Amino acid sequence: MSVNMKSSAIAHSNIAIVKYWGRSPSHDPKMNIPLNDTVSMTKYGLMKDTRLQAHTTVHLSDDYSKDIAILGGETLTGKGMERILNVIEPLRERANIDCRFKMMSENDFPTQAGMASSAAGFAALAIAAVDALNINLSKEEISTYARLGSGSAARSIHGGFVFWNQGDSHETSYAKQICGPDEFDMGAVIAIVSEEKKSITSDIGHESARTSPFNKVRIKKSQEQAWEARKAVLDNDFSKVGKIAEENCKYMHFIMMTSDPPLFYWNPDTLRVIKTIQRTRKEEGLECYFTVDAGPNVHSLCRSEDIYELQKLMEKTEGVKKTISVKPGDDSCTTEKHLF
Ligand code: PMV
Repeated sequence: MSVNMKSSAIAHSNIAIVKYWGRSPSHDPKMNIPLNDTVSMTKYGLMKDTRLQAHTTVHLSDDYSKDIAILGGETLTGKGMERILNVIEPLRERANIDCRFKMMSENDFPTQAGMASSAAGFAALAIAAVDALNINLSKEEISTYARLGSGSAARSIHGGFVFWNQGDSHETSYAKQICGPDEFDMGAVIAIVSEEKKSITSDIGHESARTSPFNKVRIKKSQEQAWEARKAVLDNDFSKVGKIAEENCKYMHFIMMTSDPPLFYWNPDTLRVIKTIQRTRKEEGLECYFTVDAGPNVHSLCRSEDIYELQKLMEKTEGVKKTISVKPGDDSCTTEKHLF
């Protein structure tokens, strides 16, 4: 019987409130098992042309003589292709289908600039591949395959607020929704200070985290914070979630800076934005909190009613090139719209 299966999916990026930084040394690094439970908000961009989403089409067919993956118009080779195969190979095996695929993916935001583009991309890939291969899996199970491409992608399978259970095996390291996008009031304004590709990928950072003498402390604190953040989301306690996000972000960047070799993702504009956020909270009574992923851009978390005012303040801050405002996004899902 000849194979001809095509599916597409749309997935959103996410911002970690309690971060994943470093992989479990007891497992194959390719499994991306984190050192602690993590928590995130799935993002939906408020601007029509920047939803912060990846759109991916996967086509399995006997007509292809080799696997092909195209991201943003560029054919992937080497490490990029390896990561795609980390997701597709085990799914192809599970479905017992041995034919080549073509994948095409587009993001509506900058890739590799600390904006979690890989989270959206690998979540969309896992959903499209599972659907194309006609495998019946729960969202939690799909999240374990997204994780094989990029750890944080596990969380992007779900909408709203998400808990990624560290686990100690492929099956137990999955992401689960804490609550839907309308059940906890939080949005964010992303202050873009640079759209350049980061020089050191998070992949390298996950390996060097263990060289920081403070890594064990971060792991212990993060584990506690993941459960506190989960409870605070369910209690609708924005202040608590914001405080945890800031603290946890500082712990992660401290590990980065004290690793060997050290990683400094912040630039002077990053710090300027952080100071503006702190000043806005103290002096203007607008409650907002910062968090920064593996890049220089800053997320300012706030209540939805404050997004517009915060955006105006961020836009006035020196060094901010543009802003992207977001609210919690829906679950990632399949779409009938194919890219080819
Ligand atoms: O999923 P990765 O390998 O791109 O790592 C993500 C790391 C951070 O964005 C810095 C933190 C996180 O939990 O998303």
